[in-house]
Amino acid sequence: MRVDVAFTPAALPPAALAGATALVIDVLRASTTMVTAVAHGCLAMLPVAEVDEARRRARSLPGALLAGERGGDPPEGFDLGNSPLEFTRERVGGRTIVFTTSNGTRALLAARPATAVGVAGFVNLTAAADWALGQGRRLVIVCAGELGSRSVEDETCAGLLVDRVLTTDPEAVVGPAALEAADAARPYAKDLARLAQDAPHARKLASHGRSPDVTACLTRDAFCLVPLYRADVDKVVPPYR
Ligand code: MLT
Repeated sequence: MRVDVAFTPAALPPAALAGATALVIDVLRASTTMVTAVAHGCLAMLPVAEVDEARRRARSLPGALLAGERGGDPPEGFDLGNSPLEFTRERVGGRTIVFTTSNGTRALLAARPATAVGVAGFVNLTAAADWALGQGRRLVIVCAGELGSRSVEDETCAGLLVDRVLTTDPEAVVGPAALEAADAARPYAKDLARLAQDAPHARKLASHGRSPDVTACLTRDAFCLVPLYRADVDKVVPPYR
């Protein structure tokens, strides 16, 4: 098996995903929110790049919830924002959600050419690595980053995924960016909470009163499932559906 990491979606060479498994990460907060929503019984999430398109899609799906953020807050008329804490079983169980965020949903859409696409964060780190290993293909870990720039929380998550792959399969071939991510992640392995200080986006969320979101997003293995993005139906769905 070979493992590569793209620090931003733009860093993906055009053919990188063909025939590969992809794991898409946006720790703060989109991928954490997707994992939480699916773990709490949401039927499907439709990732959409633009707010207006999300509104249109939601109108055409009676009963669907409209969720996401721009600048960290829900756009006008949205039912939910992008806080994983809002996506409770009571709120999202049995519902379809149209979802748009600044970086995370776009990273997911960029992973479309992969053969299989899973959604990963710290909250499902072990399940995500094990799922990817089980796929038996080359693995590309795609970090959403922040408006085209790299983000330390996504890279740390990528590095810990690489570490888990190597622990299970010591023969795995690790690309240069994956090696860099694994090295950089090591100091955080036993202390993810440090990212609340070290990650600029975590500090920004905290300054807007969203520290509980940061804590939830920096929790390791809260869930043991991997939402799958099925490009053929353009939906994030629970595994085995
Ligand atoms: C994004 O997709 O850019 C993020 O999830 C932003 C956020 O923290 O809401």
